[in-house]
Amino acid sequence: MTEPKRGMRRSLTSYGDEAFSLFLRKAFIKAMGYTEDALERPIIGITNTFSGYNACHRNVPELIEAVKRGVMLAGGLPIEFPTISLHESFSHPTSMYLRNLMSIDTEEMIRAQPMDSVVLIGGCDKTVPALLMGAASAGTPAIMLVTGPMITGSHRGERLGACTDCRRLWGKYRAGELTDQEITEINGALAPSAGTCMVMGTASTMALMTEALGMMLPGGAAAPAVHADRLRAAEATGARAVALASEGLTPEKVMTPQAFENALRMLLAIGGSTNAIVHIAAVAGRLGIEIDLEAFDKLGRDTPVLVDLKPTGQHYMEDLFKAGGAATILREIRPLLNLDCITVSGRTLGENLDSAPAAFAQDVVRSRENPIFKEGGIAVLRGNLAPNGAILKQSAAAADLLQHTGRAVVFTSLEDLAERIDRDDLDVAPDDVLVLQNTGPQGAPGMPESGYLPIPRKLARQGVKDMVRISDARMSGTAFGTIVLHVSPESAIGGPLALVRTGDRIKLDTAARRIDLLVDDAELEARRKAWTPSPPRPEDGRGYRRLFLDNVEQAEHGCDFTFLKPAMKSRTPPR
Ligand code: FES
Repeated sequence: MTEPKRGMRRSLTSYGDEAFSLFLRKAFIKAMGYTEDALERPIIGITNTFSGYNACHRNVPELIEAVKRGVMLAGGLPIEFPTISLHESFSHPTSMYLRNLMSIDTEEMIRAQPMDSVVLIGGCDKTVPALLMGAASAGTPAIMLVTGPMITGSHRGERLGACTDCRRLWGKYRAGELTDQEITEINGALAPSAGTCMVMGTASTMALMTEALGMMLPGGAAAPAVHADRLRAAEATGARAVALASEGLTPEKVMTPQAFENALRMLLAIGGSTNAIVHIAAVAGRLGIEIDLEAFDKLGRDTPVLVDLKPTGQHYMEDLFKAGGAATILREIRPLLNLDCITVSGRTLGENLDSAPAAFAQDVVRSRENPIFKEGGIAVLRGNLAPNGAILKQSAAAADLLQHTGRAVVFTSLEDLAERIDRDDLDVAPDDVLVLQNTGPQGAPGMPESGYLPIPRKLARQGVKDMVRISDARMSGTAFGTIVLHVSPESAIGGPLALVRTGDRIKLDTAARRIDLLVDDAELEARRKAWTPSPPRPEDGRGYRRLFLDNVEQAEHGCDFTFLKPAMKSRTPPR
């Protein structure tokens, strides 16, 4: 039997002579000043996702230094390499459009270059899922390190956090309650440090889910970006990556259907971002595991929301960190977890919990007997408006709108929305249902976070804070409201959402998990026959855009590209 290739001998460039390939590789890498001794060590790759456009990754350089220290203390050779970096506010048309590109970059760079294991450094919303997707497909032992949440800001004595308070205070500005001067001051106070949004947005959600999934060391999710514990986590991650290389603990062995169920329990218990359900479906899909939305909804029936963080609660990630981080949550939902799942620590989730610091009194994570919300944060809806599913973050909705029937006010595109939403002559009332079409994976394209339709200005001025809003788009995890998202099939491919007209009645029945268009079948069939897709845009014909439009899947499958996934072989949560 031939020895598995390790270190510099892995992934040799093809010259038709392996010995020469190694000779040439070593000749070039020696230009970096490495000795023969260094080049014989296990090689630990480190993804460098720093970018001058990505403030959430501002601390990546110092994290890399700490990871390298850990790798070298454990006897390995750390080598960093760049991948695409994505920031939410610097990704046109939307970061979701580019997530799969980053995952392909990550996968191929792991595969192309010699490394025995890889440290994935991510943080901002799309980077953690993209790195996990790429690593899952590459199959090399991998471990995740997040950049960590920002600390909170302050304005005139009020504690602020991105980006729940960005939206809340922008809403106040729109309603005329804040001056230009105040909103400018607030703009400078919302993101006061390196790190990711410090509320329970997508970044915090994905970090906590990744810890529950077993792909991150215990305690790795919540330490603030600027805290010394963040650097200690980086050092420990580097050291552990060396052990992973010799143990051969590949992502497939950690990310099992049972481990995904643990991550889904975490998502529900934290009242996490709706985006996470799309991302976790994409990560699982890379391993041939399908997320079963109905079974996920059932998990929600006995998984209460326990974490009191904005946007649904009052605290921020630094408070969760001080309250014990992910371990405090996992301990509370312990009876619901698959404790035998192996994690990148080399121990099971149950063993990690057993060795976590002891519990203490705190007010950020509630007990199961005294939850924030007695069911999980996310409900999965079906109905004639969403035959393949839709999502509602019920923990962030107005309680009196969870059961609601209203008149549809339809916007056919983002441009139509921008043009009409603030007009004084818009025919809209507080109990209407706002509908936005053509913002799904194909429609926008890239399924932007435009599902948080603003309250029409004339209603905002009257003090209206929430309305039922429906779209095939996503919503930032930092947003809140009675907002039905991810309607599938999307309107751009002729899903029922495309058939809604202003004046139709729509019924949201959260208790029955239904979203229905109250239009009779014959009329709907006539509309379906008359529907035609939008003509292609000039930019649709080439490059990554062409690849995206030809291959992107619907939300329930994670919006991944069909050709990146193996055949499905199992489901989670198991029925
Ligand atoms: Fe990066 Fe919010 S913008 S985590």
